[in-house]
Amino acid sequence: MTRVVDVYPDPDAASNAAADSVAALANGSRARRTLVISGGRTPERLFAILARRSADDPALRELEVFFADERAVPPTDARSNYGRARQLWFDPAGLATGRVHRIEGERPVEEAADRYDGALSRLFGGPPSADRPGFDLALLGVGDDGHTASIFPGMPLAERSTRWAVATAAGTLPPAVARVTLTRAALSTAREAIFLVTGPEKRSIVGRLLGPTPPDEPPLPASSITARDRVRWILDAAAAGAQDGRAPGG
Ligand code: 6PG
Repeated sequence: MTRVVDVYPDPDAASNAAADSVAALANGSRARRTLVISGGRTPERLFAILARRSADDPALRELEVFFADERAVPPTDARSNYGRARQLWFDPAGLATGRVHRIEGERPVEEAADRYDGALSRLFGGPPSADRPGFDLALLGVGDDGHTASIFPGMPLAERSTRWAVATAAGTLPPAVARVTLTRAALSTAREAIFLVTGPEKRSIVGRLLGPTPPDEPPLPASSITARDRVRWILDAAAAGAQDGRAPGG
């Protein structure tokens, strides 16, 4: 597995670079093209770009979309990751409902996690494993504490490698609601994982995640995600700070 860091001048350029990767997947030759998306504020710009591009790039409407995590709220709640993606991307783009595989945040989290886990096991033929197919592309974000999806530091449950999805308690960062998250093993089945991280408030955590892990500290969740082929960090200059990265397009 390789790791690359690409630094773009601003959030728009970074989000367009992530959209280019999604479009490349959508226009690829695989019969099923699977994309995992995250919640939070950062991907909102990307969702709007994908919605706009769908008019000229109909392949973008054929992706199978999955969620890295969901908050325990119904789709109509402003905190719903599915609700937000639907509003900004799926509905304006005309993505068929059958292609969007949401986590049912309106159910009790254990039940929603079991149902998502079961659906993914059926789709991929068993628990997450290097011997089985997995996701094509996982688009991930990073919280100030180094969490990704809803895998928060010190949450051993999300380490369960036999599961695709688990229920987790509310993390330390808002919104303080229980969640369902894909596990580290599930996310690491992706051929490529992209961390899209923008803004000066992320500079310090990006420095920690991309720097060496101090010997007595466990790795932070975001730095423990692997991928079959490549982990790519797409940063804007504000989040990158002094971080070395390839120039755009490099
Ligand atoms: C969620 C996410 C989460 C997110 C980070 C970054 O549902 O909260 O999937 O992992 O990616 O918290 O969030 P921001 O983009 O809002 O900083």
